[in-house]
Amino acid sequence: MSIFIFNGFLLLCFVVATVLNVLVLGSPGAAEIMYLKPPLKMCRYSKVNSILEAQCSKLKLRKIPLNLNVDIEMLDLIGNYLTELEKDSLHPYKKLAYIYLGGNSIAEIDEAAFANQPYLTLLDLRLNDCDTLSKSLFQLPYLHTLYLGYNHLNDSVFKVKVTSPLKLLQLTKNELTTIPNIGVQPTLLNLNVSYNKITSISTEDLAPFCSLKELDLTGNSINFKAGSCDCQRFIAWVKLRQIKIKPDDLYNCTKTPATLNEDCANVRFSNRTNELFDECLAIIQHEVETEKARSFWIYVVSCISVFLFVLFVVLFCVHKQKKQLTANDDNIDMRQQEPDNNYQNICR
Ligand SMILES: *[C@@H]1O[C@H](CO)[C@@H](O)[C@H](O)[C@H]1NC(C)=O
Ligand SMILES: *[C@@H]1O[C@H](CO)[C@@H](O)[C@H](O)[C@H]1NC(C)=O
Ligand SMILES: *[C@@H]1O[C@H](CO)[C@@H](O)[C@H](O)[C@H]1NC(C)=O
Repeated sequence: MSIFIFNGFLLLCFVVATVLNVLVLGSPGAAEIMYLKPPLKMCRYSKVNSILEAQCSKLKLRKIPLNLNVDIEMLDLIGNYLTELEKDSLHPYKKLAYIYLGGNSIAEIDEAAFANQPYLTLLDLRLNDCDTLSKSLFQLPYLHTLYLGYNHLNDSVFKVKVTSPLKLLQLTKNELTTIPNIGVQPTLLNLNVSYNKITSISTEDLAPFCSLKELDLTGNSINFKAGSCDCQRFIAWVKLRQIKIKPDDLYNCTKTPATLNEDCANVRFSNRTNELFDECLAIIQHEVETEKARSFWIYVVSCISVFLFVLFVVLFCVHKQKKQLTANDDNIDMRQQEPDNNYQNICR
């Protein structure tokens, strides 16, 4: 009996303690329980143009969920509380083509974070706290769109071999002091380095990007060497290569004295500029030729296949016909003849 009373007393103590804990220490405990059982933290799936997408934006996530459908091709994690991308953060998802991580607080990216993403074509890391990036990111075979705006990236981030076929590189509001020195990039169409700390630019910076169509330099304080034709040379190159640059007032070379402008009418580009540009063109040319050769061989192989198929059909029919004749000879007495079957119809 006393044991029961004693147990009852303990139970009462426990209940009172818990209630007090919740009441006095209050909300943190309650909040934590809510946090552990998140009824709203559910990613939604949708399928657009046969692309399976997981939408996990604004769910206060601190980690990338690892229990999503492994076949997702698009992952939207915009506006969460992610602080780092670890080696295994994206590990289960091997078909991702689009990853949106904008508006988080990502400061650390493991070197291998994207190692498992061979099909990645677009990565959005805008509005994070990155001051470095994993080098392997720039070697993904299909990556063509890279949004890195509003981070803390400086020139050293681009001391890396870039082999990804980048078309768009968006670097607004970072800490660059020069145009990224990423070597010859024959695919690059759009480079956005607005609102960085770029103070100088030359034709040699742009020559490796022989397909470039748009360059946004807004919000940098670019100065050309006083008394030189550098500005006119730069603008001549931009016009020759039909690159659209921003801001517009760069075109006027207003900071150079007007008298000089006339002397600068026939500027020449450095040999290095021409070399870099030609190197870039050569890569495009090589690709075009490889593609032509490929098409040629596909054509040849198709022709041979068709020829072999026709030959096979002909031989087959001849063979069938012969057999038929022999059979007819054998059954020459028989009154009834079997109706033609399909093979014989084809062959006649
Ligand atoms: C460069 O990026 C900024 C910020 O995203 C954008 O407002 C601007 O239009 C972009 N420039 C070009 C030429 O696309
Ligand atoms: C630059 O030159 C163009 C004409 O070529 C003119 O319309 C424009 O106002 C000039 N801009 C500045 C900022 O001087
Ligand atoms: C640039 O190339 C031209 C012709 O190809 C050559 O005559 C000249 O010496 C070169 N200049 C330099 C600085 O290498």
